Amino acid sequence: MGLLESCPLFLFTNTVLVVLLQLGSSIPHVAGSKHGGNETDQLALLTFKAEITGDPFGSMNSWNQSLHFCQWMGVTCGRRHQRVTVLNLNNRKLAGAISPHIGNMSFLRKLQLRNNSLSHEIPQEIGRLKRLQILLLRQNSFTGEIPANISGCLDLTGLDFSRNSLGGKIPQELGSLSKLKYLLIDRNNLTGSVPPTLGNLSSLIVFLAESNNISASIPDVLGGLTNLEGLGFGGNKLGGIIPLSIFNLSSLRAFNMVWNQIQGRLPSSLGNTLPNLQEFAIGRNLFTGYIPDSLSNASNLEIFCYLSELLLAGNKISGIIPSGMRKLVNLQTFELFANQFTGNIPTDLWNLQKLKIVNIAGSIPPSLRKCHRLEVLSFGANNLSGTIPQELATLSSLLYLNLSQNQLTGSVPLEVGNLNNLEALDVSENMLSGQIPSTLGNCVKLTLLYMEGNIFWGSLPSSLRYLRGFEEIDLSRNKFSGKIPDYLEDFVFLRKLNLSFNDFEGAVPERGIFKIASVVSLEGNDKLCGGIPELQLHRCNSEGLRRNRFTFPLKVTVATINLLKATDGFFSQDNLLGIGGFGSVYKGILDQGDRVVAVKVLNLQFRGASKSFIAECNALKSIRHRNLVKVLTACSSVDYNGNDFKALVYEFMVNGSLDKWLHPNENENEVSEDSRCLNLLERLNIAIDVACALDYLHHYGPEPIVHCDLKPSNILLDNELTGYVGDFGIARFLPKVAYESGNQSSSIGVKGSIGYAAPEYGMGSEVSTSGDVYSYGILLLEMFTGKRPTDHMFSDSLSLHNFAKMAFPEQVASIADSTLFHQQDNGLNHSSTSSQKIEECMISIFKAGIACSEELPRNRLAVNEVLMQLYAIKNTLLGSDRRAA
Ligand SMILES: *[C@@H]1O[C@H](CO)[C@@H](O)[C@H](O)[C@H]1NC(C)=O
Ligand SMILES: *[C@@H]1O[C@H](CO)[C@@H](O)[C@H](O)[C@H]1NC(C)=O
Ligand SMILES: *[C@@H]1O[C@H](CO)[C@@H](O)[C@H](O)[C@H]1NC(C)=O
Ligand SMILES: *[C@@H]1O[C@H](CO)[C@@H](O)[C@H](O)[C@H]1NC(C)=O
Ligand SMILES: *[C@@H]1O[C@H](CO)[C@@H](O)[C@H](O)[C@H]1NC(C)=O
Ligand SMILES: *[C@@H]1O[C@H](CO)[C@@H](O)[C@H](O)[C@H]1NC(C)=O
Ligand SMILES: *[C@@H]1O[C@H](CO)[C@@H](O)[C@H](O)[C@H]1NC(C)=O
Ligand SMILES: *[C@@H]1O[C@H](CO)[C@@H](O)[C@H](O)[C@H]1NC(C)=O
Ligand SMILES: *[C@@H]1O[C@H](CO)[C@@H](O)[C@H](O)[C@H]1NC(C)=O
Repeated sequence: MGLLESCPLFLFTNTVLVVLLQLGSSIPHVAGSKHGGNETDQLALLTFKAEITGDPFGSMNSWNQSLHFCQWMGVTCGRRHQRVTVLNLNNRKLAGAISPHIGNMSFLRKLQLRNNSLSHEIPQEIGRLKRLQILLLRQNSFTGEIPANISGCLDLTGLDFSRNSLGGKIPQELGSLSKLKYLLIDRNNLTGSVPPTLGNLSSLIVFLAESNNISASIPDVLGGLTNLEGLGFGGNKLGGIIPLSIFNLSSLRAFNMVWNQIQGRLPSSLGNTLPNLQEFAIGRNLFTGYIPDSLSNASNLEIFCYLSELLLAGNKISGIIPSGMRKLVNLQTFELFANQFTGNIPTDLWNLQKLKIVNIAGSIPPSLRKCHRLEVLSFGANNLSGTIPQELATLSSLLYLNLSQNQLTGSVPLEVGNLNNLEALDVSENMLSGQIPSTLGNCVKLTLLYMEGNIFWGSLPSSLRYLRGFEEIDLSRNKFSGKIPDYLEDFVFLRKLNLSFNDFEGAVPERGIFKIASVVSLEGNDKLCGGIPELQLHRCNSEGLRRNRFTFPLKVTVATINLLKATDGFFSQDNLLGIGGFGSVYKGILDQGDRVVAVKVLNLQFRGASKSFIAECNALKSIRHRNLVKVLTACSSVDYNGNDFKALVYEFMVNGSLDKWLHPNENENEVSEDSRCLNLLERLNIAIDVACALDYLHHYGPEPIVHCDLKPSNILLDNELTGYVGDFGIARFLPKVAYESGNQSSSIGVKGSIGYAAPEYGMGSEVSTSGDVYSYGILLLEMFTGKRPTDHMFSDSLSLHNFAKMAFPEQVASIADSTLFHQQDNGLNHSSTSSQKIEECMISIFKAGIACSEELPRNRLAVNEVLMQLYAIKNTLLGSDRRAA
């Protein structure tokens, strides 16, 4: 994310456009009668049409002699005189030029041709339109210069030539447009200086000229435009100083001068003379001096950019940051990067609840965690020392975290995994060490990762394999070792990978990004071999090759499966892992014993099995999350007997389903002998895993997905007891539009499993994310009471939910799974985690479970809210543990 983007050029523009469009449409459409009118207008319109070379929407098809021109599309005439008053052909993709005949439509008041592909010069003849009020030519491809003759349109109130290719100077003749309120000429190629005659535009409210090549300094006379609310010259070549008179424009709301070469100091009275400021952007200039105390009086301030990336040495803002800035309660963006501030940032500054973007020098204050909306946090190039504060991990709204170019030591905290909205992480050029925490795999939105120039070591964690959105990874100049993981091959968006100057070894992968030598840097890793020839690495010896072959991603083909099918005993009881609604799941071994998989063979005799197969394939092909069971392949074919055959192949989960762990007595013959009860922390972790997966399905997947059948038997556990949500056999996509409008349901009727399906489903309600939350609540209560919702003790009058609710909060300990209290090992350090603390956490867990399984969908929590609560519970449990350690 460029700094310029984080400090947008003139947010004000949108407001202005709305105003212009509204002005444009405020005239009622008055169609003329079939007879009468003025041939001059008709001829002008026909000539206009003749110059249009492209009209892909056929917008001008009605422009023919069989209709009166007042009825032509986009044409509006005056009631009495049948003369054209409005020509509105916005957004029509018209190509061609504007005919000079336009100047003959002498009654024209509004000419609106915004967002087309019109080119050539804007005809001088427009200057003959004495009654013209609105001229909207925004977003076309006009070239040449702004016609000076427009100065003849003395009634003009709005002129918008933005986003064209106009060159030359701003004509000084424009100074005669004394009624002009909006002058928008931004994003062209205008040169020269701002003519002082514009100081005559006494009605002017907004003047935007950003992204041009305008030079010299802002003329002093603009300070006479006392109605001015918005002034934008960002991205030009302005120099000199800003005249003091400009800082006297008390009506000014937005002021943007970023990316110029303006010098000087800010007047000390700034905040008093500009009390209405909302946006004040002067970053990337040559300002000096200090931030005036009075700025805190500009209490509407939302954006304040002082980014001065200095182009000349020695011209930096210095002094302290005034503490009064805490009064700027509306502040959203705060950029004080690369200046020469001394002293600390006033701590109460972080009480600013609306802050979204912070780009600043100074130390990282713990109170920063109060900024719940923070999206961008940049402390780059800042002399920071010490470790990365854990407080940062509470900023779950963060999208972009930049701590680069400091002297930070220690490791990246595990809590980085809590930043589940993070898109870019830059900790490059520090003195950080340790391994990449595997929790980074939780940051499923991560696209940019910069860790270069540190002392990180170890191999790359396998959890990163789920971060398929990666675009750039730079790990160069560290001490990483081990093999380059094959999963990097699967990152289809990856366009830059720098692993140079580390200690990686073994064969370099050859697929995906590794096919393009120019975007992969591997130099300075002496133990690497193989790869494509362009990488010029030495060939691997046979050992390296063999190792490589074994880690190739599994390619399970239809033939493999049919082979399995044909294998003696594949369908034997020994290999049967379970029987589900639509088929049976078997354990299979592939790749010469190298890979254990679970194969679900659908029983197509069951009604709906085919549909379920399609639902599951559709759901699984588009989603990826570390807590979702990974489907390796799907196959649909015809078997030897000519019968339809459909199967899904998943990663095998050593520890089976959560159901077996929760109810070991009912599953005696299926659980291995060393089975034990899950302890408190393990259960909490699994609950968090499942909530993470649901949160992803509901909020972060390519489309919202409702699982519809959440229950312990559909939650699988790997060798580390990490929970994975599986069985998407009845999952449903929610139409995105309905979802975004708050109507989060899908019209396809579905039943889940008895006891777990939300009560409204039973009454024919549509599938919704809150239905999943219900199932999740029941699951949570089951996990911590050890009781199934279908237990014989429950009836119509007493459900698991009511049972928990009645016990809440005093009796929670008495209904909780007793093994949780009598465990030798609850995953916590006993000496410090009092049973009182455990009970408190249990109460919080039950509270969440009850809130999720409320009868009425609208009373339930959203899954991301539960997730936050569970994280907090875990922190409480572990926190007390850690302090004692
Ligand atoms: C049409 O308008 C032109 C220019 O305003 C004028 O000279 C001419 O007399 C008008 N003709 C009719 C028929 O109204
Ligand atoms: C003129 O425009 C009308 C309305 O679009 C259309 O119905 C008619 O076919 C057109 N006539 C000719 C000759 O193009
Ligand atoms: C420009 O016009 C095209 C074609 O009608 C439309 O799709 C697009 O949304 C318009 N863009 C804007 C910014 O109005
Ligand atoms: C209209 O404008 C064109 C070009 O500017 C001109 O040639 C023509 O004579 C004008 N008058 C009429 C009545 O069309
Ligand atoms: C420029 O505008 C003047 C005044 O409105 C008008 O008389 C003149 O014809 C225009 N020039 C051209 C080339 O149309
Ligand atoms: C400004 O001028 C330079 C050189 O004349 C040119 O390269 C650049 O594209 C121009 N900028 C804009 C915004 O047109
Ligand atoms: C802008 O104008 C300059 C000087 O006239 C020219 O060199 C440059 O190519 C132009 N740039 C664009 C983007 O039109
Ligand atoms: C407009 O401003 C210029 C320079 O500031 C001045 O010389 C000129 O007289 C003014 N013109 C009008 C029409 O007010
Ligand atoms: C700013 O406004 C004040 C009060 O109206 C006035 O005294 C002062 O001269 C003005 N300064 C400039 C530079 O216009």
